[in-house]
Amino acid sequence: MRINRLVAATAGLGLALTLAACGGQGAGGVDDAPGGNSADADPSDQTIGVAMPTQTSERWIADGEAVKSQLEEKGYTVDLQFANDDIPTQSQQIDQMITQGVDLLIIASIDGTALSSQLESAAAKDIPVIAYDRLINGSDHVEFYVTFDNYNVGVQQATSLLVGLGFLEEDGTEAADAPTSPQNIEVFAGSPDDNNAGFFFDGAMETLAPYLEDGRIVVPSGQTDFDTVATLRWSQEAAQTRMEDLLTSTYSGGEELDGVLSPFDGISRGVITALQGAGHGPSLEEGLPIVSGQDAEIASVSLIDQGVQFATIFKDTRKLASQAVTAATSFLEGDEPEANDTETYDNGVKIVPSYLLESDIVYKENISELLIDSGYYTQEQVDTGQ
Ligand code: GAL
Repeated sequence: MRINRLVAATAGLGLALTLAACGGQGAGGVDDAPGGNSADADPSDQTIGVAMPTQTSERWIADGEAVKSQLEEKGYTVDLQFANDDIPTQSQQIDQMITQGVDLLIIASIDGTALSSQLESAAAKDIPVIAYDRLINGSDHVEFYVTFDNYNVGVQQATSLLVGLGFLEEDGTEAADAPTSPQNIEVFAGSPDDNNAGFFFDGAMETLAPYLEDGRIVVPSGQTDFDTVATLRWSQEAAQTRMEDLLTSTYSGGEELDGVLSPFDGISRGVITALQGAGHGPSLEEGLPIVSGQDAEIASVSLIDQGVQFATIFKDTRKLASQAVTAATSFLEGDEPEANDTETYDNGVKIVPSYLLESDIVYKENISELLIDSGYYTQEQVDTGQ
């Protein structure tokens, strides 16, 4: 866009002057850098649009704030928007960012397939798009993807469940005193319009497969296919309702429920509320089933500390934000960001170069080491759950 403006402004002065202007490298000058941005543009002249899905989940607030503050530290101006998990709101916010002339977009989508027209407009204006944590599908105009190793997150979720059920030790080795009778579990997946949900589910179910095949683990409801167990918008309320229905349909005759595979802390808390409401627990010591999670949200970390939720997966949002900022800075300086995965994330149109981060399983025993010593939470936050 800048090129067009500049060429139009200088057209009347003749070709020689136009070329001289294009060769200039002063602030706001032009070159052929990806995204059409100057290799030495002043960050204070550049605005980055950051679109986050919702403020109802604490993790996205942390992500939004981390991205904003890290970009501002580098001198960029930031337009940060949250969309209340409403697809039209997010589309509108991104449209507006494009109209207002942002230089780059960082987007954590609500529905990974709903932003094609926004991405077309961004491409037409040479605005690079970085998909943040969630891949944007069906578009050629996603330049880069920063996320965690999502398949491995699913493996870790199932691993934590296997630890809780007594099949594995926390170091991943086989437990010497593994249960000899079948363990009953139920299975939850994330939002079907979020590309990550399938990765988490596949990682988890492939890890549980040997146990399901030889009957060491059983799913008494029989509900194991993704579409049946998915939770639209990762809704805590929907998860609570489905767990209540499962307890009525499958466990009202006194059958044991030993564990629940949950892909996200909000879902975990909905499941736990349903279980406690039906008289399970209230703590693990008092027979509450093992429930996994994801995101190390403070409310869930506190439940883990109190011996209620069994585990979660810690994805350090500070590191994800920092990776997004590194990628953004590369584009804005006219470079290509460094990818560490160029095979996994096919969005239906192309393989999107990605940077994947590693995650950790949080158990009661390593809350201090992973979350407090690293400064992610204070002991007081863990104690109060806020
Ligand atoms: C996913 C994300 C998870 C969790 C979930 C619900 O896209 O990867 O970490 O936050 O959304 O918000």
